[in-house]
Amino acid sequence: MPAESPLIQSLRTAVAAAPQDVPLRLHLAQLLLDAGAADAAVAEAAVALQHAPGDPQARALMARAMGTPAPGTATPAPVNPAASTPAPAAPASSAPTPASSTSAPQRGFDWKAAEEQIGDAVPPRFVEPEAPLTEDGSGDPGDAAAWDVEVPGAVRLADVGGLQEVKDRLEAAFLAPLRNPELRRLYGKSLRGGLLLYGPPGCGKTFVARAVAGELGAKFLSVSVNDVLDMWIGNSERNMHEVFETARRQAPCVVFLDELDALGGKRSRTHSSGMRNTVNQLLTELDGVDAAANEGVFVLGATNVPWDVDLALRRPGRFDRTLLVLPPDAPAREAILRHHLRDRPIENVELGKLVKLTEGFSGADLAHLCESAAESALLDSARTGTVRMIGMKDLLGAAKQLTPSTEPWFASARNVALYANEGGQYDDLVAYLKRKRRL
Ligand SMILES: Nc1ncnc2c1ncn2[C@@H]1O[C@H](COP(=O)(O)OP(=O)(O)O)[C@@H](O)[C@H]1O
Ligand SMILES: [Mg+2]
Repeated sequence: MPAESPLIQSLRTAVAAAPQDVPLRLHLAQLLLDAGAADAAVAEAAVALQHAPGDPQARALMARAMGTPAPGTATPAPVNPAASTPAPAAPASSAPTPASSTSAPQRGFDWKAAEEQIGDAVPPRFVEPEAPLTEDGSGDPGDAAAWDVEVPGAVRLADVGGLQEVKDRLEAAFLAPLRNPELRRLYGKSLRGGLLLYGPPGCGKTFVARAVAGELGAKFLSVSVNDVLDMWIGNSERNMHEVFETARRQAPCVVFLDELDALGGKRSRTHSSGMRNTVNQLLTELDGVDAAANEGVFVLGATNVPWDVDLALRRPGRFDRTLLVLPPDAPAREAILRHHLRDRPIENVELGKLVKLTEGFSGADLAHLCESAAESALLDSARTGTVRMIGMKDLLGAAKQLTPSTEPWFASARNVALYANEGGQYDDLVAYLKRKRRL
C-alpha cells in the first residue's frame, strides 16, 4: 500500500477523534478514492452509512468507490448509473493487496478484501492484548511463550449478551466470594477445585470464561486439553504442570481448560496409559501441592460432553460444580446479532423478527448467518453493478438456509437427562428440556 498523504493522515486522526462525524468521514473517503485507494474508501463509506443509513452522499460515494475497476481486470466493473460523478480511474501503479491477489482473481473488485477492510475500519470491540512474555521478569519466557496468558479486563460479563441466569449463578457461586479476599479466606477450602461449564458448542462457554477473568481482574490462560496432550508419553504431564506453574507465577489468573472431556477414558486414544497420568497430574495441580501455592489461581473447565469427563475429575473438591451454558436466549441473540452487524453496511434490519426466527441458534450460528447475508448482498452488488446494502431479504434468506447446530447436542443431552442424571448432576439440563417441552 502506498504511503498516505499528510492530508489523509491528519483527516484520519480527525475521524478517529470524531467517529460520528459523517461529512468528515465522507471527505476522507473522497480523498482516499481520489488517491486510488478504493478499498479504503469503501471501508470509510461503509462506516459513514452505519452512522447515517441511506445518506445519499454516502451511498453515491460508496457506489463510486465500489465501481472503480481494480487494476489488472479484463473487463471493467460496471459503475452504478445512479452515481453522477464518474469514478476517477485508479492509478495503474496501485498494486493489488496481497489478499486480492490470492482470492477472487478476476472479479473486478475484491469483495472479500473490501469486507475485511470494512471490518478493520472501526475499532475492534474487544482488544486482545498481547500476552506479556514475563510480567515482572520472574517468569520463564520459554513457558510463557508456550501458554499464552492474556492480561485482564478485555471482556466483562456485561459484554455477554443475555444469559441472565448464568450470570446470576456465576456471581453468587463464584465471583462474589472470590472478589472479596476476606470471604475468600473464609471459604477457603470450599472454593477449591473448579467450575465446569458445559453445554452445546458455540454457545459462549469460552466467552463466559474470558469474561469471568475480566470480572476478577485476573489474567486469562486458555488451554485446550488436546494441546496439553502430547504424543510423547510423559510430556502431557509436564505440559499440564507447566500450565499451572505459569498461572501461579502470573496470579491472579484464571486457568481455562477447554475440551476437558479429551482427558476422559471414554475417548479411545492410542496413548491412553499416558492419559491416566495426565489426569492424575491435573488432580495434583488442582489440589495444590500446598494449597497456598494456588492462591489467586482460579480454574474453569469447559466441555460439550460433561458425561465423557473422567469421573475422577468430577469428584467433590474438583470439577464438582457445573454451570450449564445454553443457546443464547432472545436478549442474547439480539446482542450477538447487533455485534456481528455492527461493522457492516445494513439498512432497515428488524432485529426483533430475526431474534424470533433464530431460536436455538448458537452464537457461532448467528455469526455465520450475518456472514452469509453479507456475502449475498455483496455478490448481488457485484452481479448488478449497483451497490446494495445488506437488508432483511439477505438475513431472512440466510436464516432459512441454516439449521441450529445445537440440535444434535440436545438429542444426546436428552438421553443423558433421561437415563444418566445420577445425583441430580444434570438437573439444570432436565429443567431446561422440560421448559422447552423436549422431555
Ligand atoms: N451470550 C453471548 N453473547 C455474545 N456473544 C456470544 C454469546 N454466546 C456466544 N457468543 C459468540 O459466539 C461465538 C462462539 O462462542 P464460544 O464461547 O466460542 O462458544 P463455546 O466455547 O461454547 O463453544 C463467540 O465468538 C462469541 O463471541
Ligand atoms: Mg469454546
